[in-house]
Amino acid sequence: MSCLTRITDPNLIVGANTCDDAGVYRLTDDIALIQTVDFFTPIVDDPYAFGQIVAANALSDVYAMGGKPLLVMNLVAFPVKDMERSVLTEMLRGGQDKINEAGAILVGGHSIEDKELKYGLSVTGIVHPDKVVLNGGARVGDRLLLTKPIGTGILATALKGGLVEAGTEALITTVMATLNRAAGEAMAKVTVHGATDITGYGLIGHLHEVAAASGVAVRLDARGVPLLPGVADLAAMGIIPAGAYKNRDFYQKWVTSTLVALDPLEMILYDPQTSGGLLISAPQAAIDQIVARLAQCSYPLAVAVVGEVTAGPAGTITVG
Ligand code: CO
Ligand code: CO
Repeated sequence: MSCLTRITDPNLIVGANTCDDAGVYRLTDDIALIQTVDFFTPIVDDPYAFGQIVAANALSDVYAMGGKPLLVMNLVAFPVKDMERSVLTEMLRGGQDKINEAGAILVGGHSIEDKELKYGLSVTGIVHPDKVVLNGGARVGDRLLLTKPIGTGILATALKGGLVEAGTEALITTVMATLNRAAGEAMAKVTVHGATDITGYGLIGHLHEVAAASGVAVRLDARGVPLLPGVADLAAMGIIPAGAYKNRDFYQKWVTSTLVALDPLEMILYDPQTSGGLLISAPQAAIDQIVARLAQCSYPLAVAVVGEVTAGPAGTITVG
């Protein structure tokens, strides 16, 4: 979400004036609404997989705020003349399956004809007004937990170029289509200070957003970041999406790195993610409880503490 104009309303908990993942509005003392929307063009060939990824991605912003998704609307742009109708059916079936898994309800939507296929969801969720998890709550001494491995941008780029073996599309689909529900629910059961989900700005970009909003610095343990298989080799070969370079151009002014020059790991940390994991800032004890809960529910992806919150110039990141 971009930072737009400032609106003041006593019930507006999160508006467009912060870089949070969704808008939040207090309805009663016990219930606040969460509103978010996201849509994009296909990143995998299989329409069912694409639908799953779109839905998991859009629902994620509600989980990142500590909330529970309730109602969903589909947004579809479809090239009616150039694409078989079965593509649309399969894509929507993928989305519906993830909406069902989230326990949310599809209540409508809108479609238009367009040259390029696009699919997205608007999502309405709820949260207790006192339990909203913001980007800006991280405190010195917190640990930073990441709930999905990174590298989907690099793998998707390699896939488009025909540079990876057959299992890669299935692998990245699994990662991107995994709901942040388990992580969000585990987070909501303990007291955390801040959270966001990792998407287009890459791990470093989202770390910066959290650190800047919280008025703190962070230390990122680059070697502790879980990477998808093959990502390090592809990055070393220069298979890096344009978005990673854009992210580096924008965010590197806040980064001090002890990685050696040309370490491929550096670009991976800027790799734009689609439907990435939650990044949670909380004391070690709360992090331990979240990790234990995820293990209990057989959460399928790598979860790791990737750094800590430190005193220092707001928004700065030390990579080591
Ligand atoms: Co987000
Ligand atoms: Co978003």
